[in-house]
Amino acid sequence: MVLFTGFAVVLGALALPAAAQSAFPGVIATGTNGPTNPPRPTAPTLINQTSMARLITLNSVDDFCLFAPPEGPALIGDTETEEVAWCTKPRNNARVIPDGTITGVTFLKTPFYVQIMGIGNFTNLNIRAGDDGGELDPHGAQGSGNPIGGNVTTNIVNGVDDVFYEEWMMFISANRFCVRACTNANSTYAAKYMCEHKLDVMGCDFVMPGTYHPAGTFESCEADVAYPPGWYPTATVSGSTLFSTFAQYWTGVVGDQTFTVGDLVTPTAPATIPSSSNCATVSTIANGIALASLTAGAIGTEIPTVSTGSSGSGSPTSSGGSGGSGPSQSAPPNAALHGAHVGFRSMGEFAGIVVVSLVSGLAAIAMLH
Ligand SMILES: *[C@@H]1O[C@H](CO)[C@@H](O)[C@H](O)[C@H]1NC(C)=O
Ligand SMILES: *[C@@H]1O[C@H](CO)[C@@H](O)[C@H](O)[C@H]1NC(C)=O
Ligand SMILES: *[C@@H]1O[C@H](CO)[C@@H](O)[C@H](O)[C@H]1NC(C)=O
Ligand SMILES: *[C@@H]1O[C@H](CO)[C@@H](O)[C@H](O)[C@H]1NC(C)=O
Repeated sequence: MVLFTGFAVVLGALALPAAAQSAFPGVIATGTNGPTNPPRPTAPTLINQTSMARLITLNSVDDFCLFAPPEGPALIGDTETEEVAWCTKPRNNARVIPDGTITGVTFLKTPFYVQIMGIGNFTNLNIRAGDDGGELDPHGAQGSGNPIGGNVTTNIVNGVDDVFYEEWMMFISANRFCVRACTNANSTYAAKYMCEHKLDVMGCDFVMPGTYHPAGTFESCEADVAYPPGWYPTATVSGSTLFSTFAQYWTGVVGDQTFTVGDLVTPTAPATIPSSSNCATVSTIANGIALASLTAGAIGTEIPTVSTGSSGSGSPTSSGGSGGSGPSQSAPPNAALHGAHVGFRSMGEFAGIVVVSLVSGLAAIAMLH
C-alpha cells in the first residue's frame, strides 16, 4: 500500500502542468510514505491525541503541523526518531495542537521553499520546559528520517495539489520552531542544499534566515530566496556566482578511529537575511476546539467542528513588506538558536555517515563537507 502511495504521488505530480511542480530531481519525494501515516494528507480527521502518525503538512499560517514527542516531558535530542505530527487543525490522523500553544507565526512562500517560523509554549506538545531543542530531517542515522517515517507535504506551489517533498528540515525547542520544505531546485540550488540537514547546532536564525517577530504577530508573506544554509557568495565569474561553504565542526571516535570534520571557525550570521513582501496578517490562529477535547490520550468519535480561517478579527490585512534586515533578536533567546544537541549527544546521523566512512574511506568523509 505504501508503495502504491509513492507511485500515486509521482503520477499526480507528472499530471500537473509543467510549470506548476518542480521537475528537478530530488525535489518531489519518490520513496515510500511512513508506515504510521495516512496515504495522503487528509482534513478533517478525528481527534486522536494518541496518534503515532508522522505526516506533516505546511499549507498556510493557520494550517500546518510540527513534529514533537509522543510522550513527555521529553528532550527533542532524546526522541528525534520518534516524534509525531501535531497539527493546528485535525488533519492527517495526527494530534491536534491545543489553541493558545502557538503565540506567533510567520509563514513564508518563496520560489524554492516554504518556511514557517513560530514561537509558543511547546511544553503543551510534550517538550520539556527549557529544552533548547534539536533538528529533525528526512535522513537520520537509519536513513529513514528523524523521526523515522516522517514525511512532509505542502500545497503551496499551485495552492491546490498536496505534494510530498523529499527534503525538509525542522528545528524545535520548548518555545520556538522553524521548518522548511524544499519545493524547487535548479542546478545550483539542489533541494538537499537548500534544506541542508547537517548544521544542526546552528539554529533557526542561521539555517532559516528571515524576518522573525516576537509573540503576537501572525503573518503570511512572500519572501526572497535565502542562500543555501552555510553558503557565502565570494565572487561572480562569467555570470556565475561562486560560493564558500561552511561545514559544522564535529570530532569524535567511532570504533577505534577518531574522525574530525568541518570548519574550526563558526560564522555568526548567514550571508543575508532575505526580505519578506506582500505580508498579510491575522490577529491569531485557532481551531476553536475545546481544550478539554485535546487532553493527553483524548480520542474523538466524530469529526470536530473547526473554526474557519483564523479566529478573532481574522480577515487578512495587507501590511506591505515586513522588511528584510530587521533584527531577529526579539524572539526568545535560548530556543533553537545554538542549543540543538541532535547529532552531538546521540551522534545521530553523524554516526551513520561516519560508520559508512569506515567502509568507503575518504570519499565518505568528503561527503560530510
Ligand atoms: C517519506 O520519507 C522518506 C524518508 O525520508 C523518504 O525517502 C520518502 O521519499 C518519503 N516519501 C514520501 C511519499 O514523501
Ligand atoms: C489513534 O492513533 C493510534 C496510533 O497511531 C492508532 O492505533 C489508532 O487506531 C487511532 N485511533 C483512531 C480512533 O483513529
Ligand atoms: C506553558 O504551559 C504550561 C501549561 O500548559 C504552563 O504551566 C507553563 O507555565 C507555560 N510556560 C510558559 C513559559 O508560559
Ligand atoms: C538557481 O536559482 C537561484 C535563485 O533564483 C539563481 O540565483 C541561480 O542563478 C539559479 N541557478 C541556475 C543555474 O539557474
